[in-house]
Amino acid sequence: MKTIAVMANKGGVGKTGITLGLAGAAAHRGLAVLVIDLDPQGNATSHLKTRKGRMSLADVLASPLPETFVDAISICDWDASIGEVDVLPSHPDIIRFDAWSPGRSTTKLRRAMKDVEGYDLVLIDCPPSLGALTREALTASDKALIVTTPSYFGAQGVEKSLAEITEIQKSTNPDLEFAGVVMNRFRPTAEEHNYRLSELTDIVGARTILKPLLPERMVFQQAEGSGAPVQAIPGAAAKEVGEILNSYLTKLLREPRVINEAI
Ligand SMILES: Nc1ncnc2c1ncn2[C@@H]1O[C@H](COP(=O)(O)OP(=O)(O)O)[C@@H](O)[C@H]1O
Ligand SMILES: [Mg+2]
Repeated sequence: MKTIAVMANKGGVGKTGITLGLAGAAAHRGLAVLVIDLDPQGNATSHLKTRKGRMSLADVLASPLPETFVDAISICDWDASIGEVDVLPSHPDIIRFDAWSPGRSTTKLRRAMKDVEGYDLVLIDCPPSLGALTREALTASDKALIVTTPSYFGAQGVEKSLAEITEIQKSTNPDLEFAGVVMNRFRPTAEEHNYRLSELTDIVGARTILKPLLPERMVFQQAEGSGAPVQAIPGAAAKEVGEILNSYLTKLLREPRVINEAI
């Protein structure tokens, strides 16, 4: 079982779209996938058309025991032809677990997940901040994937996320691997975007940025609107995005410690 945290210090960069796109790609391969929605906004929970369960991550964080974790897992109502995805649903109340101070434990999720089995891949959709909830995710994960966009604050955000990963490697999770950066919503013809790409390349190195870059495509909105993964949307753009996400999945599942040097 591989656990991957999808993180950024910002909202709106595509964490949820990419988490669910990777979930769709994995399910399409026949893998058993669990999505943990650690964002109090709960966008992944809604997009996955999660069947109303009695419990959520709020219960897991309040009582971080393996049995609470298993009881809180829900099934999702995505088109079954794509494969099966389970979800640990979010709840607005988890915001109260986001406050962080030095010395405060962020091992609740890892403790609660310790006996989980039956999944090939666990994807954690992080909140848009580097607070205690993201630390919970990084402490519980094998790998951390950073999402960014080609913008003025993009490179700075990646640096902050990298610093957070290093912090967690030094404290609660020495085995955490940095899995690279997804440059999302990239327009190859926009001069500004190419400038931002070279800026990011100077900071993290070319090998760290996953290729091909993820282009700006309406299929993400279409997928949200229809409560389906991008893999279920018809058309050339969805196929293109589906293939890119599938190639990311291959890298995330296979490549051993190749890009830690960027930290
Ligand atoms: N590559 C893309 N092309 C076009 N729209 C995108 C792309 N990636 C994400 N979006 C859209 O941007 C918005 C924010 O994406 P989302 O995944 O919710 O971000 P986050 O989880 O980081 O807040 C959503 O409406 C989503 O559909
Ligand atoms: Mg999100």
